[in-house]
Order: sequence, then structure tokens, then C-alpha cells
Amino acid sequence: MAAQILDGKKVAEQIRSEVKAGVAERVKTGKSVPGLATVLVGDNPASHVYVASKQKACQEVGINSFGYELPATASQVEVEDLVKQLNADPNVNGILVQLPLPNGLDEENVLKSISIEKDVDGFHPINIGRLAQKGRDPLFVPCTPAGCIHLLKMTLPKLEGLNAVVLGRSNIVGMPVALLLVRENATVTICHSRSKNLPDIVRQADILVAAVGRPEMVKGDWIKPGAVVIDVGINRIDDVSRPKGYRLVGDVAFDEAKENASWITPVPGGVGPLTIAMLLQNTLRAAALLD
Ligand code: GUN
Repeated sequence: MAAQILDGKKVAEQIRSEVKAGVAERVKTGKSVPGLATVLVGDNPASHVYVASKQKACQEVGINSFGYELPATASQVEVEDLVKQLNADPNVNGILVQLPLPNGLDEENVLKSISIEKDVDGFHPINIGRLAQKGRDPLFVPCTPAGCIHLLKMTLPKLEGLNAVVLGRSNIVGMPVALLLVRENATVTICHSRSKNLPDIVRQADILVAAVGRPEMVKGDWIKPGAVVIDVGINRIDDVSRPKGYRLVGDVAFDEAKENASWITPVPGGVGPLTIAMLLQNTLRAAALLD
């Protein structure tokens, strides 16, 4: 039987309307308007698009958005000084430094300079470290991984004891999603470019999270019947039949995989919209930390 489609756009709309109500409630009771500062360094076109969508989403739910742009030639000190200024700004509850940073900048030190109470991306080494440790809780969880878990919990009564396979070990998605799955008591296997027998490992997965950035790498016959498939990949492939000359596909061959999966996210419109919804939720929580 063909899989049911996990409509991330619809789920994200629901979360965004809850955040909007939460912001309105704060303001009604005399509390501050939450504020998110975005820091964009350099001119990566995709980063510009992502940051613009984050700013627009803030405005739609009543969160103040403060956009900062620095040239690709900005020094480490300039970037960190801007972050420090935002740490001290009482109107800013969340700070998002869009990644990747231009070559030559030390990402870890930039992320470390963000106050953990304003780390709405959850990438500060302390927040990630807490995510990886038993009995510790991060203040914030990275947005795309949080979106993946949100979707999984909508489809499965519990994740405990299930075999979860994560394809990719990036700091932004693969590794934190694997850590979150461990916290849900799933049995987690992390695969990457050096993994052997990938199809056989994926065939064991009750849950598959694909985040490798390789178009349609996962074939339909890799999917265990009934598995839940979360496809984080967003890849452009040439398609002359489309007005733009390309179309977007995930890391999973959707048409094949949906014949075996029980639930599957489409690309676009799957995990992507959840990333921004989670960022808004984190920013509202950051404001509440100060109440
Ligand atoms: N680059 C790709 N995804 C993200 C994200 O979730 N946050 C930031 N800051 N940069 C990214």
C-alpha cells in the first residue's frame, strides 16, 4: 500500500499559528515582544533566501526581526563583536548566525560567542554537549532535527526500541537528529560516506532520516515495508520541462520509496517548513526565559 504523505507545510502552519497566539498573549499581558536577530555574513545566495524567509516568518507571527549583514571579508572579531552587541541587546531574545560562514571564519568560536540563553538555533557547544549527555537538557534544540522528531512523533505512538537509521552526520542535521533519537530510546545507526552496505543497513530501519544532500540516493527497495521516511535533502536536478530548468528532489527516490513506506515526507513541503516553525517556537521560548 502506498505511503501516507507527511504534509510538513500544514504541520508548520499549525505551529506558526500557535506561536502567533503565544506572542499575542504575551503582548496582551504586558510582556515584551519577542525579537530575533539574524546575522548573515557574505553573499551565499541560498543563505540570503533562507534568512529572508526566517525574517518574513517572524513578521507574520508578530516577532520582531532584526537583520544584520556583514561582508564576506568581515573579520572574526567583527562577527563576534556583533554577536556580543546582540547578546547585550534586551530587545533581542534569539540570535541566528546563518551557516555556512565564509571561508576563513571560525564557526565554532562564532557559535560559542552567542549567549546560550539566546541560542535559538541550538548550535552553541554547550547546548549540543548537553544534548549528547544523559541527564542534561539543552536550552534549545536545533530546528531541523526538532522538526524531524516532531513529524516522527505525529506518525508513531512511540520511538522507543525502534531501529532508526540516520544518513549523514552533519552538525546541523545528522548528528543532532541522531542524538535526539537516542534520547527517545530508539536504536540509532548513523551512516555516512564511508559506510559499507548502505542498502542493507537502511533495510533494517523502522525510521529513516536522510540528510546527505545526494539527489534520490535512497532507492525504493532500500525501504523496509512500513518504515517512516523523513527526507531532509533538498537538491536541484536539471529538468528542462520546468520553467526554471530544474526541480527539487530529496535524498530519497520518492516515487519508489512511497510504495514501501507507511509515511513519507515530500520534497519540497516536508521537513523544510518545520525548520522555520521550530525557530519561531524557540524564539518565543527564549523570550519566556526572561519573564
Ligand atoms: N544553515 C542551514 N540550516 C541552518 C539552520 O538551521 N540554522 C543556521 N543558522 N544555519 C543553517
